Amino acid sequence: MAGNNRTAWNVRSSNVAKRAHNPIRQIVDKLKVDPQAQKSFISLSVGDPTVFGNFNVDQTANDAVTKQLNTFKHNGYSPAHGTVEARDAIARKFSVPEAPINANDIILTNGCSGALEICFSVLCNPGQNILLPRPGFSLYRSLAEVKEVEGRYYNLVPEKNWQVDLEQMESLIDNNTAAILVNNPSNPCGSVYPREHLEAILAVAAKHHVPIIADEIYCDLVFKGNTFYSMASLTQDVPILSVGGLAKKWLVPGWRIGWILIQDRHDVFNKEIREGLLNLSQVILGPNSVVQGALDDILHNTPQSFYDETIKQLEHNTNLSLEAVSKIDGLKPVTPQGAMYMMVGIDLEKFKDIESDVDFSSKLVAEENVLCLPGECFDYPNFIRIVITPPAGALTEAYERIAQFCARHRK
Ligand SMILES: Cc1ncc(COP(=O)(O)O)c(C=O)c1O
Repeated sequence: MAGNNRTAWNVRSSNVAKRAHNPIRQIVDKLKVDPQAQKSFISLSVGDPTVFGNFNVDQTANDAVTKQLNTFKHNGYSPAHGTVEARDAIARKFSVPEAPINANDIILTNGCSGALEICFSVLCNPGQNILLPRPGFSLYRSLAEVKEVEGRYYNLVPEKNWQVDLEQMESLIDNNTAAILVNNPSNPCGSVYPREHLEAILAVAAKHHVPIIADEIYCDLVFKGNTFYSMASLTQDVPILSVGGLAKKWLVPGWRIGWILIQDRHDVFNKEIREGLLNLSQVILGPNSVVQGALDDILHNTPQSFYDETIKQLEHNTNLSLEAVSKIDGLKPVTPQGAMYMMVGIDLEKFKDIESDVDFSSKLVAEENVLCLPGECFDYPNFIRIVITPPAGALTEAYERIAQFCARHRK
């Protein structure tokens, strides 16, 4: 046995802890919000639709949780990957003739973040690489870094509604590529891919035999003229782990319910991946049992009017945002097709004293008390991301202040 010659305390954080970081926090913590500011604080930065009170959970979901709470049947531990009733409710919701699934193909997780964490773990070894979108949700990078997996970034093209540069994506694939992550509809872009584009991405995955992780947390949050297609419904060949949850479509991010759908027509994932998913889900027990009990009602009895109302408000806010921001000289919004975000390009040439997107966000919050995330948070400089879920009045006020800010700083 090795000896122990410690004579004093010297407790150090692990290498994993040293690698763990959230790029959004790192950047945002440096943007100083002035508590003494004369103008009210308007945040266009938080991807939580509930914070302003204008997007509310449907009564059906609240009643379902209350009902389950009062049965006293959901106070114990449930199976780590979810109760069979909850998994069955999810399978019935998402099963389609082209991609049939049942309760055995579902793993419940702590939010969609928990689902992503398990998917990365089951498919990627340290030293392998995973293809990630740029711009993309920052958790992807954080997970890759913690797991010592190399994130390789494929480009999304703003002039093409943020579609993937397929040639460049394909050029990144090698024998060490463990998976391609596709996020549709997208955070931060607000893009919704047409069927043909998803099929083209699937063709690249099929050609190189690389599985897909499809982050579909914003499923169905699409505006008029666009359709959401799940990737699994468009392929018979490519094995897919689709991740989702209650956070966005059902407007309850705090309830922390997420899921993985194992979509695999030809048993490519086979016993090993399925067992791996189960083993990983068992490390820490799955999401809270009361909401699992309510899941059938939430998924199957929420009225269509709730979903329609969410889209109506998001679409209204998007149109308002596009109209206001496109009038501001020096800013160029990219029209969103769904989700809850709008990316806005900054033409730095037009400004006399703005050096970068981080500088833009930093000066904007200091002078106008309006906070937007700089593109840097999504690996995409010279842009800002605007969250379009605040009430219309707050958005209008924010855009007036941004217009004044730009006018002051323009050459
Ligand atoms: C693209 C994307 N994936 C996953 C998540 C995480 O969802 P959850 O809150 O369910 O963990 C988010 C949250 O904002 C997101 O934007």
